[in-house]
Amino acid sequence: MAGSPQRRAQFIIVAALLYSLYVLSRLVLPKRLETKQLTLPDIGRHTKFQLPPYFQSLEDAGIDPAEAIAILETPESEQGSRQSKRIKKFGKQVSRSLLYSRHPEEKYIEILWRCRTGEPPAAEVFDSFVSLKHKIFEVRVASERYPMTYNPSIIALPPSSHYPFLIVARVRGGGFFQESLICEGKYIDEPFINPWGFEVMNRLIGCATNPRVLVVPQTPARDCTGIDYMSDVPGYHDPRVFWSNTGAPLMMFNQQSRYGCFGLWIIDLRSVYPSLRYRVTRGLLNQYPTVMELTRTEGRQPIEKNYLMFYDAETGSGYVQYELRNGSRHFSRLVGNGLTTSNMTSPLEKTCIHEDAIWHQATNAIKIVLCDYGQCEPEPENTVYLAFLHRKETPETFKVQYKRYVALWKATAPFEMIAFGSKHIRFDNEDEWEQKFNVEGKFLYTVSVAWETNMNRYEGYLNENVIVSLGVGDHGNAAVVMPARDLLICMDSCRV
Ligand SMILES: *[C@@H]1O[C@H](CO)[C@@H](O)[C@H](O)[C@H]1NC(C)=O
Ligand SMILES: *[C@@H]1O[C@H](CO)[C@@H](O)[C@H](O)[C@H]1NC(C)=O
Repeated sequence: MAGSPQRRAQFIIVAALLYSLYVLSRLVLPKRLETKQLTLPDIGRHTKFQLPPYFQSLEDAGIDPAEAIAILETPESEQGSRQSKRIKKFGKQVSRSLLYSRHPEEKYIEILWRCRTGEPPAAEVFDSFVSLKHKIFEVRVASERYPMTYNPSIIALPPSSHYPFLIVARVRGGGFFQESLICEGKYIDEPFINPWGFEVMNRLIGCATNPRVLVVPQTPARDCTGIDYMSDVPGYHDPRVFWSNTGAPLMMFNQQSRYGCFGLWIIDLRSVYPSLRYRVTRGLLNQYPTVMELTRTEGRQPIEKNYLMFYDAETGSGYVQYELRNGSRHFSRLVGNGLTTSNMTSPLEKTCIHEDAIWHQATNAIKIVLCDYGQCEPEPENTVYLAFLHRKETPETFKVQYKRYVALWKATAPFEMIAFGSKHIRFDNEDEWEQKFNVEGKFLYTVSVAWETNMNRYEGYLNENVIVSLGVGDHGNAAVVMPARDLLICMDSCRV
């Protein structure tokens, strides 16, 4: 008798519990799952066409840029009206100002056109290449699990760090699966017996901390038709680390794309390598706290590769340059979360690369002030961006070669190229290094370029050293260090 109200109470309690569990499962669980997923920006929301800077003057004059382009592209014989003449005149003015405004002053850039030989620092100039007298040395990144790594990307750590370098290198031997190791590095002098029996010191850069796998969040591929086996293989590849203009340590890498099969993504290294947080005193604004894909509005391919970033020397805005070829360039402004505007390249721009070859953007870009430290103040008139381009060649079937060329761009939008290497660059002992791992071809792949010392500033000067990181035929790591000045040799001017 007394049991029945009790049982009813029990029943009510159990029912209430079950009901609340049900409600919880409907409300709370999906939310939890959602917050665990990446919150990724939506491509549809961003691509409002932004008028490139050189069209502003056209618009101010009441001319429709699209019409102007159309008229400038039609042959002269077909143009008659007053309006088209006015546009033509204006277009010329615009193109002239585009090419000549805030162009680095001749006194700063005259060193670029010289093909110096004989004087120190010595460079030997051959018909098709320049050999710089700086020696390639080993970069050693290996863990127990991954004894072989390649394509290192090196940056200099801030002065408050224990060790001078941060190194990220791809591991060898995972098949489609890709991983990269990260460690902090330093110079190591190792005794070594040379071919003449003398003990000499061999300088290399090696890990000073235990290399560990650098994990970044994974992303889904939208469409890998034709290469479906790649769509769900985890692991990013082609990491490149570099400093942003505000001093954020960034990593750009290739991973499954939300718009195609593979795309380029960016993340602030402090999110995935937290000990940096306490040492990086600049770049407190973390623009890339998680992986963000760099979007591309025009000309997107299923697999995108080799982007590079510029920051406007006057406004500080970030830009992505997607590609550069004979006759075409494509760059856009970053508008936040990795999203970009449409193509901002002027249709009036003249190419500076005249050979029809396979050109790739090889490295990130660094900003150079064209004087020695203390000799001038950075201004758009004396500052340029430098990056390496690769010319890819296949002299034998399945054997590739990458020839590296130096390219320079203006430091303000629209970042026109101002100079391009007339010859490709080789380093002193590159022949020896090419023999080391002659598997897919004899090549040293230029991965990244950075200032050797971190002075807590973005730009460097001609007398300051750069470190060029090299992959040795997909099987090893190397680097070469030299004053930035030495890279600026035998260049052709882009001025017309
Ligand atoms: C970007 O614009 C330039 C100039 O009009 C053009 O040459 C280039 O092909 C464009 N790139 C893409 C991918 O649309
Ligand atoms: C591209 O290369 C081809 C072949 O070398 C050449 O004829 C053409 O003029 C080049 N285009 C430009 C815009 O320089």
